Amino acid sequence: MVLSRWALGLLGSAASVLAAPATYGNGTQYQSHPDRLAAVQEAFDRSWDAYYTYAFPNDGLIPLEKTYINDLGGWGASAVDAFSTALIMNDEKVIKQILDFIPKIDFDHANYTSSISLFETTIRYLGAHDLLTGPYKAMAEDESAVSAVLDQAIHLADLLSVAFDTPTGIPINNLDWEPPRPKNESTNGIATIGTLVLEWVRLSDKTGQEKYGKLAEKGEAYLLNPQPQNIGEPFPGLLGTDVSVANGSFVSSQGSWGGGDDSFYEYLIKMYVYDTARYDTYKDRWIAAVDSSIKYLPSHPSTREDLTFLAAWYNSTTLKYQSQHLACFNGGNIILGGLVLNRPDYIEFGLELVNGCHGTYIGTATGIGPEVFNWQDSKTAANATNNPAPPANQSAFYQESGFWIPAGAEYYDLRPEVIESYYYAYRATGDSKYQDWAWDAFLRINATCSVGDVGFSGIKNVNVPGGGGFLDHQESFWFAEVLKYSYLIQAEEAPWQVSADHDNQWVFNTEAHPVKVVGTPI
Ligand SMILES: *[C@@H]1O[C@H](CO)[C@@H](O)[C@H](O)[C@H]1NC(C)=O
Ligand SMILES: *[C@@H]1O[C@H](CO)[C@@H](O)[C@H](O)[C@H]1NC(C)=O
Ligand SMILES: *[C@@H]1O[C@H](CO)[C@@H](O)[C@H](O)[C@H]1NC(C)=O
Ligand SMILES: *[C@@H]1O[C@H](CO)[C@@H](O)[C@H](O)[C@H]1NC(C)=O
Ligand SMILES: *[C@@H]1O[C@H](CO)[C@@H](O)[C@H](O)[C@H]1NC(C)=O
Ligand SMILES: *[C@@H]1O[C@H](CO)[C@@H](O)[C@H](O)[C@H]1NC(C)=O
Ligand SMILES: *[C@@H]1O[C@H](CO)[C@@H](O)[C@H](O)[C@H]1NC(C)=O
Ligand SMILES: *[C@@H]1O[C@H](CO)[C@@H](O)[C@H](O)[C@H]1NC(C)=O
Repeated sequence: MVLSRWALGLLGSAASVLAAPATYGNGTQYQSHPDRLAAVQEAFDRSWDAYYTYAFPNDGLIPLEKTYINDLGGWGASAVDAFSTALIMNDEKVIKQILDFIPKIDFDHANYTSSISLFETTIRYLGAHDLLTGPYKAMAEDESAVSAVLDQAIHLADLLSVAFDTPTGIPINNLDWEPPRPKNESTNGIATIGTLVLEWVRLSDKTGQEKYGKLAEKGEAYLLNPQPQNIGEPFPGLLGTDVSVANGSFVSSQGSWGGGDDSFYEYLIKMYVYDTARYDTYKDRWIAAVDSSIKYLPSHPSTREDLTFLAAWYNSTTLKYQSQHLACFNGGNIILGGLVLNRPDYIEFGLELVNGCHGTYIGTATGIGPEVFNWQDSKTAANATNNPAPPANQSAFYQESGFWIPAGAEYYDLRPEVIESYYYAYRATGDSKYQDWAWDAFLRINATCSVGDVGFSGIKNVNVPGGGGFLDHQESFWFAEVLKYSYLIQAEEAPWQVSADHDNQWVFNTEAHPVKVVGTPI
């Protein structure tokens, strides 16, 4: 969920050849693995105990120093992010600790260094309440705890609402606090504008107060109809990144499925899953984006034509052969849309992308993928300015693995996207290969990112044995996402598991908190 941006290069496009359509969906069989579930649970408990001992009620654990950091408002981000995972694991001790805590969070005051992010705050603190009113109602010893959690979400949304008070209604992402007030920012990006609707609409649907959903939908409207089209929409459905808050115009064409853009695309189809009647237009825009991605963006490394990556773009004529760990959610998201829309061709394409991201894991010394990876496109001239060869000291590695790692991007920050996509691949196919891939990734992370018994940390270099040292931060999304998807892919059937037919009862927000789909009879 980091909005890092990477420098750009130049040209060409490649179309991918899809395998013959197969049947996915109804009748898919799954197998649960109790031994693997126990291992993921052990990692969760070890992470939680370290956080609870050394960092609670602050945002995150700094494991080497056994201390804490407040980088998400100082409202206990790790506890809030661990909540839905603890519920799914039925971890009663942890559930109780978190449920006691959430009603006490003081959202009127914040502890932050530079700003409070509307996006990062929304996906964590506004996303985490639904399971409690669904299947886990009984977990709350009294109903007042349940309504206290919802009241906290309402109060926080009321505080955040000032972000939307702009000439266009496009929110400003970064706020100062006490009292909440937006920074002086002239643009916002499509991920931070377009990854609010699910949480804010859900809050409206739950409370009967339309104002929350309306705020998020107003900003989103500028992304559904990008202007001016020649700048904002370089390929049908695929957009530039930055939008003027003053007038709603796109200011550049550059974009990708990676950080800064990613979850805008993710939420188009997830809104349709959430409420098919209301969000048909969002679905159409998602289809346009995926069709363009299939038509213009697939790229195969010159040394490994068996791998498929999605290129980024500078504009409608020039691609950039670089992708990111963050972008690796794309395979899973396209598979989800393929299931929901009954489109085996999308599922096939999503599986190709999942296979490419798997390649970035198994190719490295640690068995974990890097933050960013580059390759040389097999169909674009090797002397084209946008298709450079790898640096000499990575050319042997590129020969073998089909990607290289740009300087500064060798790290792994406990990100979930690759395992998240394995999860969707498994739910669509029932193929145990994907469970094995997820288990292997879990074992590698457990072996490389454990800080003794003091929880987990990101590592500095996935391509040296042992990981090259710790980043010394246990990110809150480690609880919400990595551990949840690692668990769910090995778990027994449950109402929140992604359904292989069209009948999803839950949809995961971008932080992997389950949101109850409209019409789910619970
Ligand atoms: C597209 O981007 C490339 C790389 O930045 C640049 O060289 C080219 O001039 C741009 N083309 C257009 C039409 O803007
Ligand atoms: C799966 O079942 C649903 C009804 O439950 C049906 O609408 C759909 O067409 C089926 N999909 C496939 C791929 O057979
Ligand atoms: C805010 O959090 C930091 C750690 O990120 C801590 O050092 C500091 O004491 C906290 N400030 C307050 C006022 O609690
Ligand atoms: C906001 O920033 C713009 C451009 O950087 C500047 O012209 C304007 O004066 C600033 N407004 C405030 C209230 O600081
Ligand atoms: C919109 O605002 C941007 C600056 O944020 C400016 O560059 C652009 O010209 C404006 N567009 C229109 C149509 O006013
Ligand atoms: C690339 O090489 C081809 C053939 O060798 C040549 O015709 C072309 O001008 C070169 N292009 C660039 C950008 O150097
Ligand atoms: C390759 O060389 C560059 C420049 O000297 C250096 O920064 C980088 O760490 C080296 N990478 C590897 C994998 O050896
Ligand atoms: C995970 O790591 C812990 C701590 O190193 C270890 O005790 C445990 O056995 C590992 N789990 C698996 C399944 O290897």
